[in-house]
Amino acid sequence: MPNNIHQLSELKFGLIDYWRMFKARGIWLPVNYFRHAHLFDLRYKTNTHTWLPKDNFEEKPDNFEHGFMYMCSWTNEIQNSFKIVKSLLATDFDDYSFVDIGCGKGKVVIVWKQECLREGKQQAVYGIDFYQPLIAIAKKNYSKVFNEEGMFLLRDATQTEFNEFGKKIIVYLYNPFDEIILKQVMERLRDHPSIIIYNNPVHAQVIIDSGYKILYEHKGPHPNAETTILSNL
Ligand SMILES: C[S@@+](CC[C@H](N)C(=O)[O-])C[C@H]1O[C@@H](n2cnc3c(N)ncnc32)[C@H](O)[C@@H]1O
Repeated sequence: MPNNIHQLSELKFGLIDYWRMFKARGIWLPVNYFRHAHLFDLRYKTNTHTWLPKDNFEEKPDNFEHGFMYMCSWTNEIQNSFKIVKSLLATDFDDYSFVDIGCGKGKVVIVWKQECLREGKQQAVYGIDFYQPLIAIAKKNYSKVFNEEGMFLLRDATQTEFNEFGKKIIVYLYNPFDEIILKQVMERLRDHPSIIIYNNPVHAQVIIDSGYKILYEHKGPHPNAETTILSNL
C-alpha cells in the first residue's frame, strides 16, 4: 500500500498540462485551475489536484468500468455550495451529516470541514471511495490540514448502507459514475431526507426522476464550474 501512495503522489503535473489547458480553452482554464485546484495544495502541502486517470488504477474494483477517473473539485465550487446549503437548511443544517460519494483524495471533505469550523458548525463529514490508494491519500491529506484522522471509508457506492451516516444527509457528487450506478445509489438513498450537491451534473435527470427538485443551478464555461443542488425535502 505505501508503494501505491508513493507512486500516486509522484505523478507529475507541470507546465505542459497548463499549456494543454490553454490550448483547449484559452487563458480562462489554466488561470482558474491554478486558483481553484493547484493553489489549495501549495497552501496546505496536500496532494489533491493531480489527476488519476483510470489507466493508472493498479486494481480494478467492482464497478470500475462505470466509474469516472479521479480529479478534484474546485475550491470555489465547494465553498459556494456550502454557503447555499447552509442558507437553505438554516437551523436544520446541524441535523445533517455530509458524505462525499467518490471522495478521491479527500479535498471536498477537507474544504467542507474548514467551512463548518469557520461557521462554528459541528457536522459529521465523511468520504467514501472504492479505490483503497485514494482513501489512503485522503486520510493523509486530512491529517495534514487538521492534525487528526478524517472519516474516510473504502466503499463501493452501490454497497453503501447510508444509515451509517445518519438519517438526514447532504450528499456531494462530482460526477463520480455513470447513470447505472447513480440509479442504484438513488435507490439506497430513497428513505433519506437529503440534499444532493452535484458538480458537473451530467446525469442530473436520474436524480430528478427519483423525486428530487432542483433548488439551485449554476452554469459555467467548464464542467468543473457547473453545479446543481437538488433535494427531496
Ligand atoms: C471525479 S472524482 C471526484 C473526487 C472528489 N469527490 C472531488 O470532488 O474532489 C470521482 C471519484 O469517484 C470514485 N468512484 C467512482 N466510482 C465509484 C463507486 N462505484 N463507488 C465509490 N467511489 C467511486 C473514483 O475513484 C474517483 O475518486
